[in-house]
Amino acid sequence: PRGASARVRFQIRSFVFSLSLSLVSLHGGQVTSWRNEQGEELLFTSSKAIFKPPKAVRGGIPICFPQFGNCGSLEQHGFARNKIWTIDENPPPLSPNDSHAKSFIDLLLKPSEEDLKCWPHSFEFRLRVSLAADGSLALISRIRNVNGKPFSFSFAYHTYLSVSDISEVRIEGLETLDYLDNLCQKERFTEQGDAITFESEVDRVYLSTPNVVAVLDHERKRTYVIRKDGLPDVVVWNPWEKKSKSMVDFGDDEYKQMLCVDGAVIEKPVTLKPGEEWTGRVELSVVASTLCSEQFDVQRGM
Ligand code: BG6
Repeated sequence: PRGASARVRFQIRSFVFSLSLSLVSLHGGQVTSWRNEQGEELLFTSSKAIFKPPKAVRGGIPICFPQFGNCGSLEQHGFARNKIWTIDENPPPLSPNDSHAKSFIDLLLKPSEEDLKCWPHSFEFRLRVSLAADGSLALISRIRNVNGKPFSFSFAYHTYLSVSDISEVRIEGLETLDYLDNLCQKERFTEQGDAITFESEVDRVYLSTPNVVAVLDHERKRTYVIRKDGLPDVVVWNPWEKKSKSMVDFGDDEYKQMLCVDGAVIEKPVTLKPGEEWTGRVELSVVASTLCSEQFDVQRGM
């Protein structure tokens, strides 16, 4: 692949007729597509998305690094999602944790002279995107401090899930947790409900979350299972009607078909000393019918 818009397509065949496919863009190191065996797209991308820098693509899985949101000196959600990443042609082998992966690609990001002017910390960011035989998609970020001094960062896999109708969706796994509400100047609240449902704009960071969260789409009879490691927080975002209209790269009604649920590190940023490395891993899988709570509890215990 050549040029800024180059995208990398990789796929696995797990059985004779089953095929999973994912598409990764070098712009932002961003997964822009993930399809199941039936060829259905599982990630949302706006029909108005702009596929060239400096605007991050509205959809898929943008990488927010080294800053999440706009509380910091950098652009909203950091610069990584707007940079051109490179492919590592000789990646290290799979670790025992990822031995189920059947296909993977490693992308690299290192700061340019220009980047160092706005964020003066040398780092190496290795993003591994892998597909397993069962069609699950894993993203593993390894960020190493190659600087002489410690630095801190926040991080999120800003995952735009495709849903049938936001009113028919609920999230399980975050009930009773504390969250920071971005709509209320980051005030801290405690979730009261049984599961999270949607009837207006939601922009929250759930804190100290379990390693498995499920997003149930009743209409499609589909459950996304999000397993994560090294990512204590979960962002939940849906812009709803008013905010949708204010975003140039988002259709007025598209909020009905998407939900962002991000594995993240936000409340307590990661600090890396010289030579140290951090790993944050998220694995997305889909089960065809909605899980009943009992099954989900069993999975959470895994
Ligand atoms: C969310 C933030 O995660 O991302 C929201 O909490 C923000 O406040 C949204 O509006 C989208 O951000 P952006 O920069 O991609 O438009």
